[in-house]
Amino acid sequence: MRDPFKTQPEFFMSPHAMPLETTRHHLEDLLLAPGTGATPIQLVGSDEDLAAVPGRERRWVEARGWKPTAGAVLLVPDEAGGIAKVLFGTGGADWGQQTPMLTGALPGAIPAGDYEFSGALPDPDLAALGFLNGCYRFNRYKSSANEEAKCIVLPEGADRDRILAMAEGVYLGRNLINTPANDLGPAELEAVARDVANTFGATIKVTEGTSLLSDNFPLIHAVGRASDRAPRLIDMHWGAESAPKVTIVGKGICFDTGGLNLKPGNAMSLMKKDMGGAAAALAFAVMAMRTKLPIRLRVIVPAADNSVAGNAFRPGDVLPSRNGMTVEIGNTDAEGRLVLADALSLADEEQPDYLVTFATLTGAARVALGPDLPPFYATDDDFADAMLKAAHAVGDPVWRMPFWAPYDKLLKSSIADVNHISDGPFAGSVTAALFLKRFVKKAARYAHLDIYGWVPREQPGKPRGGEPNGARALFEYFSGDRNA
Ligand code: BES
Ligand code: MN
Ligand code: ZN
Repeated sequence: MRDPFKTQPEFFMSPHAMPLETTRHHLEDLLLAPGTGATPIQLVGSDEDLAAVPGRERRWVEARGWKPTAGAVLLVPDEAGGIAKVLFGTGGADWGQQTPMLTGALPGAIPAGDYEFSGALPDPDLAALGFLNGCYRFNRYKSSANEEAKCIVLPEGADRDRILAMAEGVYLGRNLINTPANDLGPAELEAVARDVANTFGATIKVTEGTSLLSDNFPLIHAVGRASDRAPRLIDMHWGAESAPKVTIVGKGICFDTGGLNLKPGNAMSLMKKDMGGAAAALAFAVMAMRTKLPIRLRVIVPAADNSVAGNAFRPGDVLPSRNGMTVEIGNTDAEGRLVLADALSLADEEQPDYLVTFATLTGAARVALGPDLPPFYATDDDFADAMLKAAHAVGDPVWRMPFWAPYDKLLKSSIADVNHISDGPFAGSVTAALFLKRFVKKAARYAHLDIYGWVPREQPGKPRGGEPNGARALFEYFSGDRNA
């Protein structure tokens, strides 16, 4: 008989082509030291600002009919036919609040070369970060992708380490999500987590395959057992034991077919991104560890494929969970909350000060708020208020939604302790959040982000593709004094 968790042959497990160190070096090359000669980028907020542009340049602006709307770019030639400067429209003086990542529109609109912001910036860190994030390209599978670099000089007053840490986290998160499932299964996700842990001296423990049963993670095993790529629980620790305990749990479904409740083709096509929560958790971890945040960080990732096979879990099954609650399976496509339930039980056992889940959990979240604004649930109002502020300040917005207790009854099961879905069409993101909350009993604060993990249409600083939503927001919450 075939070993159900037979791993792929060695040659098929392509080494993950995105070591953190490579990303780091790439980003260091893009962020130039002050004093480097570079083409100036002049920010133009209004027609009045334009009036201050010298005559010859202004005639060029008028000849092109250029307006300083948000994100508009105009290259201004010099006498020799080169580029004298770049005019960048901001759409108004308050662009720093409206669109903090606006500078991300620049790399797509300028030729390769070295650039420098001239004049004051509302937030020098974010101006540089926007630019770096706008430079991101996923070239792993392009045979010829020797695009020449667009570099930016570190703005005055900017914090180089902080900018690089944020960009490094975002790039890692995007790489993870963009990598298709054939090259990013549970084993490869583990390899990337190990790379992150080794880079920062974190400890890591992985429980794999049938050990999930003996170590009491029955739901993670049930969801992942139909794949020949073994499911696993990745558990990483870092930081001083005495610091506030911050535990992040990220949904790591490497591909979500829906299971026996198979998704139709159009709903399945993007499901390589169903490990977007794990990507956001690891992105946050990189930012936190790179900048040595004074927290005791724990990252837990249940990693699995939700696949179809004879041994797959079924609708109607009743499964045990780590904390003893029995769960009736309403739909095998609601697999995320199952793997998260066991991971949350484990996290909750040590009573963390903060327990946060990142998960591409429901289609309903996208129906409610669209792809760019993740629902954010929190048990603690002070934490929620500060997190919302932090999120909006750094252009990684979230929107608060309620753990609406009266809807808890929608999860009633007639034969088990709980049904993991509501059988009605209402409040899908809320009932998913309420299901997760049932597994959190001791943590001082619990928060959950139902992220989309993907940018369907390019935006400034956000190329089309994977996006670890919420990672920068949470990082800002834990590192900013803006929200202390
Ligand atoms: N990974 C999906 C949720 C998802 C779908 C996120 C599309 C982003 C875009 C999740 O596992 C899922 O399939 N959820 C179901 C739950 C339902 C069966 C109760 C959903 O949202 O349809
Ligand atoms: Mn699903
Ligand atoms: Zn899923």
